[in-house]
Amino acid sequence: MLIKEKNLILNSEITDKKIFTQRRQIIKAAAAISVASLLPSTSHAAAKKYAQVPLGPYSSNIKTSRYEDVANYTNYYEFTTNKTDSTVLAKNLKTSPWKVTVEGEAEKVGIFDLEDILKNNPLEERIYRFRCVEAWSMVVPWIGFSLGDMLKQFKPNSKAKFVEFTTLYDPESMPGQKAKSLDWPYVEALRIDEAMHPLAFLATGMYDDDLPNQNGAPLRLVIPWKYGFKSIKAIVKIRFTETMPVTAWNKMAAKEYGFYANVNPEVPHPRWSQSRERVLGASIFTSKRKTEKFNGYGDQVASLYSSMDLKKYY
Ligand code: MTE
Repeated sequence: MLIKEKNLILNSEITDKKIFTQRRQIIKAAAAISVASLLPSTSHAAAKKYAQVPLGPYSSNIKTSRYEDVANYTNYYEFTTNKTDSTVLAKNLKTSPWKVTVEGEAEKVGIFDLEDILKNNPLEERIYRFRCVEAWSMVVPWIGFSLGDMLKQFKPNSKAKFVEFTTLYDPESMPGQKAKSLDWPYVEALRIDEAMHPLAFLATGMYDDDLPNQNGAPLRLVIPWKYGFKSIKAIVKIRFTETMPVTAWNKMAAKEYGFYANVNPEVPHPRWSQSRERVLGASIFTSKRKTEKFNGYGDQVASLYSSMDLKKYY
């Protein structure tokens, strides 16, 4: 698989947004027809539930990883620490109906049906680079909606400086929670300005279909400029807070997993270098690429951290 190195300029910056989106729509529709005609009807690509979902203006224009690689090499400690087994182990997790509790420093708090949240948040596709702290990477066409647009619907107040996300806690259906690998439930958080950044995304699907359970169905975060552990899966709670929340990986090993966790080739993990990454599914000749600061999204997000020493706040 060939991954093009250069994609630092948003396509929407060089092409009028509307034309860009329309053009991608046509390409997307044509690709769906030609790929569908080549595949047996039982294959994943035959489903194409969200084939009509428009490609959003913040999408990156890069070749995506193969579905099979993204769906069968996952990190989901609620099920297993093994990367290939959660495909089977998470299969029976009940993801519908699904409720999301909203708490804390906001006007509109309560328990909301995901179905209702979806009615207020039109779906779009975002192709994003994804970089795990373990130094592997992939490119995923997510389906979902803007995190910031959704958060604003709950009317956070002026004390809301951070937003915390929590994964479902249900050891009976998530047997990995019976182990002490993390202090359950899995919690992640963002500073409010990070959460409101237009690149911050909530995914409900990928590859034009619903999210597979092992990739975080029915609702997961996708923060493309941060290490993958920030992209929390199976979200059941969103809490606006005044103080910085304690997050699961940071609590487990603060020196290894910082709160900010911005992709940064200049700050090595204490146990390995972050300067290069292994591209999932790539051939032996193309499997290593240089890691880009902020995972290639620096033009858009570096200003969020202009006053910070990123070697200290890693
Ligand atoms: N969210 C939960 N609830 N549990 C997890 O174990 N793993 C994280 C993140 N979100 C994880 C999670 C890590 S370490 C990574 S790299 C990404 O999910 C992996 O996403 P993927 O499995 O869809 O590739």
